[in-house]
Amino acid sequence: MPTALVTGGAVRIGRSIALHLAERGYNIALHYWSSKESAEQTAEELRKFNIQCKIYCVDFTNFGSISLLMNQVLEDFNSIDLLINSAANFIQKNIEKTSDLELLDTININLMAPFILMREFKNKVNKGLIINILDERILRRVSTFSAYSISKSALAHLTELSAVSWGETIRVNGIAPGLILSPSGSSDYLKKRAPNIPTKTHGSTSDILRGLDYLLDSSFVNGEILFIDGGESKKR
Ligand SMILES: NC(=O)c1ccc[n+]([C@@H]2O[C@H](COP(=O)([O-])OP(=O)(O)OC[C@H]3O[C@@H](n4cnc5c(N)ncnc54)[C@H](OP(=O)(O)O)[C@@H]3O)[C@@H](O)[C@H]2O)c1
Repeated sequence: MPTALVTGGAVRIGRSIALHLAERGYNIALHYWSSKESAEQTAEELRKFNIQCKIYCVDFTNFGSISLLMNQVLEDFNSIDLLINSAANFIQKNIEKTSDLELLDTININLMAPFILMREFKNKVNKGLIINILDERILRRVSTFSAYSISKSALAHLTELSAVSWGETIRVNGIAPGLILSPSGSSDYLKKRAPNIPTKTHGSTSDILRGLDYLLDSSFVNGEILFIDGGESKKR
């Protein structure tokens, strides 16, 4: 049975991905930080698919603990086949208003953590697939999400860089979602923003899961960033 490590897997998109992978027969190493209760509930749901699941609480702002996460998962599951980097902090501030700490935390969570997990995956496993969850904003210049945007742009670059270096043993791809879930959880946010999308609609987690299936099943796809955004990223 293959094993997937899903970061930020307790809630929202990460949770949907973990459930979908369990349905496909993956054992799940589920990472979370503050959402303990949701992580435990998600783990219970995951185990209904007759797979093994363990949950791991790690704060990615403390980057010294990130490689320990990979060590622990490898000890518990022997190997992993799939790494999904979904955890992120979504901070809506322009450059002028971003504090040193907000910048540092954003870089740690959104870039350092995936970088270190990818490096450990390469050094210790060296086979399988990595999928980084990006954002359609990587193609645009949205100054109100300064630290977030640069962290995701750098992660997109890392996705392509590693795909080129590691393709023989590890495929590395990205998914760049657009308007999928409201940051606040209110459906008003989605309704209000949908008219700005070329399709005039918002997406849902099922759109992300279809993209995920494509990347899982396509062994010749490497270094690809799949935009699932109704075309919003092309409105430059
Ligand atoms: N929602 C969208 O429409 C949308 C659009 C574009 C891109 N994305 C990308 O898709 C991914 C999932 O987004 P989402 O909106 O579903 O999730 P989200 O609400 O932004 O949740 C973020 C996840 O990151 C984890 N996280 C936050 N701070 C952390 C820290 N200090 N250490 C470790 N983990 C931490 C959280 O874990 P805990 O809850 O356990 O703390 C949570 O699981 C993200 O990479 C996001 O950038 C989402």
